[in-house]
Amino acid sequence: MKPSVIILAAGQGTRMRSDLPKILHPLGGEPLLQHVIRTARSLEPAGIHVVYGHGGEQVREALAQEGVDWVLQDRQLGTGHAVDQAMPSVQDDEVVLVLYGDVPLIRAETLQRLVKQARQGALSVLTATLDEPFGYGRMLRADDGRLTGIVEQKDASEEQLRIREINTGFLAAPAGKLRAWLQQLDNRNAQGEYYLTDVVAIAAGEGYAIDSASAEDEFEILGVNDRAQLAVLEREYQRRLADGLMRDGTTLADPGRIDVRGELVTGRDCFIDVNCVFEGRVTLGERVHIGPNCQVKNAEIGDDAEILANCVIDSGVIGRQAHIGPFARIRPETELAERVHIGNFVEIKKSRIAAGSKVNHLSYIGDTHMGSGVNVGAGTITCNYDGAYKHLTEIGDNVFIGSDTQLVAPVKVGDGATIGAGSTITREVPPGELTLSRSPQQTRAGWQRPVKKTE
Ligand code: UD1
Ligand code: CA
Repeated sequence: MKPSVIILAAGQGTRMRSDLPKILHPLGGEPLLQHVIRTARSLEPAGIHVVYGHGGEQVREALAQEGVDWVLQDRQLGTGHAVDQAMPSVQDDEVVLVLYGDVPLIRAETLQRLVKQARQGALSVLTATLDEPFGYGRMLRADDGRLTGIVEQKDASEEQLRIREINTGFLAAPAGKLRAWLQQLDNRNAQGEYYLTDVVAIAAGEGYAIDSASAEDEFEILGVNDRAQLAVLEREYQRRLADGLMRDGTTLADPGRIDVRGELVTGRDCFIDVNCVFEGRVTLGERVHIGPNCQVKNAEIGDDAEILANCVIDSGVIGRQAHIGPFARIRPETELAERVHIGNFVEIKKSRIAAGSKVNHLSYIGDTHMGSGVNVGAGTITCNYDGAYKHLTEIGDNVFIGSDTQLVAPVKVGDGATIGAGSTITREVPPGELTLSRSPQQTRAGWQRPVKKTE
């Protein structure tokens, strides 16, 4: 029996003070709601129903790829009313699991425990015991420990407010039962809302089995209401990812100083120095070394490659044993083969560079196909843009390009050619020869530098 997941996400999130709906704020580079959907999906549910409200169209658009069932809750009449909006899409013989779009760090294993209890025919609630229970619903238990209800902060008596066992909001129940209980809710309470929490007292009144479970850690149940809470969860999320990387055999110079905004997959024995940011999908082979302060986005980096300090890599493939940086910028559609060296203050854009070629100092290489074993001298520039169009530069194998050369594209340089330093190359360079364009050096014998007249 697969669970049907209902995710409540209709809240306004006014405390974020943002034009962006709260559940679209990023955690690890992805919207809060997307994390919840991913966790829900890992339970292989019969369906995922997202109850949305304010700013809903923006949310639906942002997460259109997710393929979930969107359920509009026009007016927010309470959590019980919200769940009820999704019930028409749920079959009676399923188990319903209620999640929250703004509580992103809940673990699948914790949810499995709730689902299991519900499958065995119980209403199952996730509770926690807190030193500071303020604001939460409190769990009411009979003397024998049986759950009898949940009372909200605003409805609770002095005595009830001293209860430290709180309602996290997460629950699971057989769908047919939940449907019947939801019909019985009313809004005669301090907030005038249809409380989902009231199903506990209704079930208890029927003598129905009620189970509870607790989470592994406090972060699982924390919601995001403001940016300070978002920051706390971001740090925890990063800590979890860092733990995972270390478990997989990567050394982190400081697990507190790495940020992964997307997915980072690493081979064995990689080393990542401090303050690196990984975005999108990044894969590192084995023994890859990443120096401090690097930003790496949507890249694939081969075994034994070394990325030195302060590099920016945006979309590309970097071959094994390549050396990049320090201070290099690799831009989209770049493919660097094995043993390529890219040095300081070098920018590479939309270029293929074959094995063992070197561009070590102060260069711009754009729209270029470069062969293997090429040495590009300091300050060499491909002039790839004529103001309207981009043009290709083709460089053969084993070419030697002298320092401060301009290659005015479209242009071809033949295999084994040598270009003299300071050349402006505008026509095809033949293979195997020395080509240079340079005005002859002159010396004016006896020439005097002007001097200021003194009075
Ligand atoms: C709720 C619980 C409380 C629990 C707390 C945990 C109820 C009545 N109370 O209180 O026992 O301790 O969560 O954080 O359930 N939502 C909708 N539509 C609505 C109302 C709410 O989608 O009409 C969504 C909100 O977006 C939010 C979630 O449900 O994500 C919780 O709603 P909120 O009003 O914040 O409930 P709490 O007062 O925090
Ligand atoms: Ca809340």
